[in-house]
Amino acid sequence: MRKASSIHRGFLVPSFAPLRASIWAALGLSVSACGGHVTVDPASGEGGGEGGVTTSSTGTPAPSFVCDGAVPLPQRSGAYSGYARCPDGTIHRVEAVACESSLPACQGIEDVISCKTDADCTEKPGGKCGSYPSTDFNGTAWHCGCVYACATDQDCDPGQACLCPGVVLPDRLHARCVSAGCLASDDCASGECGLSVYDDGCGFELDLVCRAPGDACRTDADCGSGYEACVAPYDRLEWACSPPGCFDGRPLLVEGRARTARRVARSDWAFASLTPETAGLRGDVRAALAAHWREIAAVEHASIASFARFSLELLALGAPPALLAGAQQAAMDEVAHARAAYTLASAYAGAALGPGPLDMTGVAPATSAAAIVAALVEEACVGETISAAQARALAGLVRDPALAGTYERIAEEEGRHAELGWRALAWLLGGAGDDLRATAASAFDRAVARLSADPEVAPGAVAPEHGLLSGAMLGALRRQALAEVVEPCRRALLG
Ligand SMILES: [Fe+2]
Ligand SMILES: [Fe+2]
Repeated sequence: MRKASSIHRGFLVPSFAPLRASIWAALGLSVSACGGHVTVDPASGEGGGEGGVTTSSTGTPAPSFVCDGAVPLPQRSGAYSGYARCPDGTIHRVEAVACESSLPACQGIEDVISCKTDADCTEKPGGKCGSYPSTDFNGTAWHCGCVYACATDQDCDPGQACLCPGVVLPDRLHARCVSAGCLASDDCASGECGLSVYDDGCGFELDLVCRAPGDACRTDADCGSGYEACVAPYDRLEWACSPPGCFDGRPLLVEGRARTARRVARSDWAFASLTPETAGLRGDVRAALAAHWREIAAVEHASIASFARFSLELLALGAPPALLAGAQQAAMDEVAHARAAYTLASAYAGAALGPGPLDMTGVAPATSAAAIVAALVEEACVGETISAAQARALAGLVRDPALAGTYERIAEEEGRHAELGWRALAWLLGGAGDDLRATAASAFDRAVARLSADPEVAPGAVAPEHGLLSGAMLGALRRQALAEVVEPCRRALLG
């Protein structure tokens, strides 16, 4: 149902058995390691094309049966979008209509420039070189890049719909394909083909899913937590409350959202000894590398605060000294990771960059064991395990020795952080009742579901030899790490 995978043929995902073995050893379990490699088959049918879409309705204007008081929504151009909003704020696709897209011409002053004319956009038919905004952890950046907008559902893969600009997210300037379990009101017994808009902390995941009377929620207000959203992301096909948060390393989550410091011009975070090769890099690759490392730097920098908070939580729970020492050492490791990432970002950008002040409003240690367990599972047992696996794979993929060395160091140290997380979880669950174990189990379920989908990566060049992977490659890598490391360790701990 999700967009079809297009993993590059021959992209090699290494075995993560050694990482699993080290975590098992940290948990005091017998080590079971297996070697070898798995080559991801680009034709393996990831995501498939099957699903619940059987018909598409055409033609009729917005019917009143969607809900009483439904308001038709316009496209950016003002034309009817085929969507309607109900008085409770929910948005539904009523019918398929043709989308209009308007993409401003490039000005040549965008933050990332990866094309000059439409002739550079040859990946798919109908490519346009234009200017558009993209938002990441560091704020909004403008891109001059190739855009392959859809006009109708027929331009998208099976199981997808063409979402016109203007329906949601006003900064989206062109129509794009989104995952669709329904295409129109007629596809759903309830008459409501709902649009799920899920901010997972790294980007927006948009999905069309039928509403049903038995849904766990209808609006965010039903979730009650203040930060969870009522959504149906990642092909789940049912509406439920989900917290935001997608992880690459250990994020600093504050009320469910990853917080980072803005970047500023400064050179004191740089390692003088780390000098990546920049001569001969294509302009778009270099710009994409600068953006990539800026994002990693911001998360690594925030990880320092995350471990500082974790230390306070361990103290509050009366943790043993080995866990506290591990948390302190991990914070030191994250200082080095942030410095390395800012060094690389500065080198690729050609300008010295470092972190500005990190807002600590609301960054308080949790005091309930349940909250600490849930965060530990998502941030460390899953987040840092995946982070270690990604860095291990990238260390073997990149050509520049400076990059390979950086990934090696990150892989080794993130692996230790993952071990620390699993050991801390084992300590917290030791002698705990069923409630705490159930909390851990549902936190695993959430994190695994979130990381099982191909992530949306920032637009720009895909260059595995420089560490720039496509969303499909990252998705394949993460799913393998989840299957080889996270799931077996989870079973060993929780049964
Ligand atoms: Fe790190
Ligand atoms: Fe870490």
